Amino acid sequence: MFETRLEGLMQDGLFRSINDRDSPQGRIIRTGESALINFSSNDYLGLCNHPSIRKAVVRAVEEYGTGSGASRLISGGTCLHQRLESLISGFKGTEASLIFGSGYAANTGAIPAISDSSTTIFSDELNHASLIDGCRLSRARLFIYRHNNIEHLNELLHRHRKGKAVIITDSVFSMDGDIARVGELRELALTYDAVLYIDDAHGTGVLGGGKGALSHFGLSPEPFIIQMGTLSKAVGSCGAFVAATGDVIKWLINTSRTLMYSTALPAHLISASIEAVNIILNNPSLVERLWENRNCLVHGLHSIGVDTGLSQTPIVPVVLKDNRSAVGLSEFLMSRGIYVPAIRQPTVRTPRIRLTVSAVHTEEDMDILVKRLREARDCGLL
Ligand SMILES: Cc1ncc(COP(=O)(O)O)c(C=O)c1O
Repeated sequence: MFETRLEGLMQDGLFRSINDRDSPQGRIIRTGESALINFSSNDYLGLCNHPSIRKAVVRAVEEYGTGSGASRLISGGTCLHQRLESLISGFKGTEASLIFGSGYAANTGAIPAISDSSTTIFSDELNHASLIDGCRLSRARLFIYRHNNIEHLNELLHRHRKGKAVIITDSVFSMDGDIARVGELRELALTYDAVLYIDDAHGTGVLGGGKGALSHFGLSPEPFIIQMGTLSKAVGSCGAFVAATGDVIKWLINTSRTLMYSTALPAHLISASIEAVNIILNNPSLVERLWENRNCLVHGLHSIGVDTGLSQTPIVPVVLKDNRSAVGLSEFLMSRGIYVPAIRQPTVRTPRIRLTVSAVHTEEDMDILVKRLREARDCGLL
């Protein structure tokens, strides 16, 4: 049965396989003999393999060992977990925060916990899969609004709002790189007395000088706003957080199944996040460099006529006509020393390569990418 299904995936250009590295995550990655310039990771600030973070991790392993051994509610947490939570609520400006094992666990744990069958959820059509799955796991009624379309959301809220309402959005959309209209979403949440749940996975460490989407829009945290963010992207570690009022966090501690029934992150990963968040907050030039690189890359792409779609951030999609073209372009780039995977259904509706640029890329890296894309275009691959 699976053989036939796998053949179907092959025929549709949708077969995926895992490409493991032989090197740390970074600007250059190695697989087997080949070294490739990497434009595929969410390590926006180059913190996945940073010397002072590595040292902090080694210290934490020496002090706390390697595993956590239990969920946070049993005996899995350490004082480092608390320290990270204070650090996060400090820079997010909230009363409290709570760490989860991953961004996927945060969204699939928090969304069902804050909703029930009398809740109505309004979710952007391009929200990340973990938000979609969080909505599915909740027993709420669900309405999907057109991407970043405030007018459509307003219409749906007006017509369908019943009981408690929750508006859910990515801050930076992970496959298109555009930014949610957070100021207008906040206004609508106020008008309809709704909760605004923001997934700041690609905004944390990137937008607002690194502090995330609310800072980017000059907004302050408010009791009806719940900010979720990951520690696995710009923070360069692993895990995620939800930052909100003290009561929301106490509620999540008591009801969120992915927190209650999953082993806590080990202390060394927490210590990596503490060190990384401090690096981000104390070195504004790092985030500035990321944006300089992002603007340099987009300028180069536009100079050769590449359409960067809706991108406003270091996530830059190049949309292609079908799955085979996306795979073909990815393979072409790989054969010329550049790693950018093809992104296909069901992750996106329109196949693409998804370029991500980081603070540690050099101007030369970006020049090489632009040159290779120009060659690809001349060969009819783009
Ligand atoms: C917008 C968004 N939310 C959540 C997640 C999940 O985060 P994690 O990889 O830490 O599980 C991702 C990661 O791919 C994401 O892009």
